[in-house]
Amino acid sequence: MKHIAMLVNAKDVIATIRPEIYGHFAEHLGRCIYGGIFVGEDSPIPNEKGIRKDVAEAFRQIRVPTIRWPGGCFAEEYHWQDGIGPRESRKKMVNINWGGVIEDNSFGTHEYMELCRQIGAKPYINGNVGSGTVQEMAEWVEYMTAVGTPMAEARRANGQDEPWRVEFLGVGNENWGCGGEMSAETYAAEFRRFGAFCRDHNGNRLCRIACGPSSADYGWMETMMKSLSKGWGGYPLAGGIDLHYYTMPIHPQMDSATDFDDALHYATMDSAFFCDELLTRHTEIMNRYDPENRIGLIIGEWGCWHQVEPGTNPGFLYQQNAMRDALVAAIHLNIFNRHARRVMMANLAQTVNVLQSILLTDGEQLVKTPTYHVFDLYKEHQGGTAVYCYTDADKADEAHKAPMVSSSVSIKEGVMTLTLANCSLTEEVQIDCDLCHFDAHETQARILTADTHAFNDFDHPEDVTIQPWTAQVTNGKLQVKLPPCSVVAGAVK
Ligand code: AHR
Repeated sequence: MKHIAMLVNAKDVIATIRPEIYGHFAEHLGRCIYGGIFVGEDSPIPNEKGIRKDVAEAFRQIRVPTIRWPGGCFAEEYHWQDGIGPRESRKKMVNINWGGVIEDNSFGTHEYMELCRQIGAKPYINGNVGSGTVQEMAEWVEYMTAVGTPMAEARRANGQDEPWRVEFLGVGNENWGCGGEMSAETYAAEFRRFGAFCRDHNGNRLCRIACGPSSADYGWMETMMKSLSKGWGGYPLAGGIDLHYYTMPIHPQMDSATDFDDALHYATMDSAFFCDELLTRHTEIMNRYDPENRIGLIIGEWGCWHQVEPGTNPGFLYQQNAMRDALVAAIHLNIFNRHARRVMMANLAQTVNVLQSILLTDGEQLVKTPTYHVFDLYKEHQGGTAVYCYTDADKADEAHKAPMVSSSVSIKEGVMTLTLANCSLTEEVQIDCDLCHFDAHETQARILTADTHAFNDFDHPEDVTIQPWTAQVTNGKLQVKLPPCSVVAGAVK
């Protein structure tokens, strides 16, 4: 067993962990929306206004704070007017990016807002820059948030009297790629135009989110910050910059979600930990242009991208989700907490049946993935105050960079939440943690642990689930064991 020393100083504050760091992403892709979230009122699957009751309940349990919608690359083909009004007369389209299937637009703005209402999440609408117009995006904002205007009247005619509150507006998606193959300079100019005409109606304050870099494209970030950090009146034009980073240690087509060797396990950990360097370097650029921290860093798409499950449509990105994915989620969420000063939101790709899903569905069956359980273990961090913690950790494996242990700590209402992941396949770890400036008397812990390949499926939905765990606090020191491949959450007070 390895003994690892850890230090937490409750006075060493980073920032408040905005709940949106625990956000999600749902695109019109494969079976994420249709079948996954929305089944329609006439479905035999229990639903409320067409939204699956089991899925909504699962979202509520982990306090999903926001869901980015409708894409992704889909957002850049989406015309919101096709998704309102009587369902039977909504215009259909081909979902070019994702399998070429017919999209009937039966899930549109009203249905999305109903989902947000049912689960208590803030809307995050992603607008269309690549194939849309400024007028179209401006009218969508007016439709959702205004009162007494032509678009507000159209909304009322479709059954919604009250305006919705929309804080987060994505101005385009991946405009360096599927959103129009633009240069950073061209996109920044587009952002300024689109952003200017998407107005704040009726007291609704928009946070306009600019397309951010792909992974380590620091040049893109530099241009965004140079162009968008100061508008005409000196105020930032963008409220957030949306970085996308997927964990892909090798080409996804070669990386089975459940059948991989030890070297690939550790390479995946390396790839997940790289997110820390990425956030550090993007934050350095942001700090230079925005020392007052008015523009948030968003990780609007993150998670593991593996091979699709054999026999499924390659355009639907349906993959299994093993304990390895749970470790990747734990590492990322710890990194986001540690960067809470600059990181204002993150959205795991993608809620149900797509990429690193938290839920899988098959007809009326529902499975919670190991990744879902990580969000459950971490939910008390939402709204907490992140504090610095230090671990004296070895590497998880000699041939790789990833440390054995990932950690983060926050305090909320007198309770300290510690989340720890052991990425080693073989070593048990004993954490000896000094808790400075915190009056600790008792602790409770929960654990998620399994073989790195273990997963839940429809025949075995509970192979990987949270169990109670033991931890002790004595004389201001917390002691807890971490089995190989485990994620532990401790609550200390
Ligand atoms: O999440 C799947 C796709 O990955 C999104 O549509 C796109 O934004 C990204 O490239």
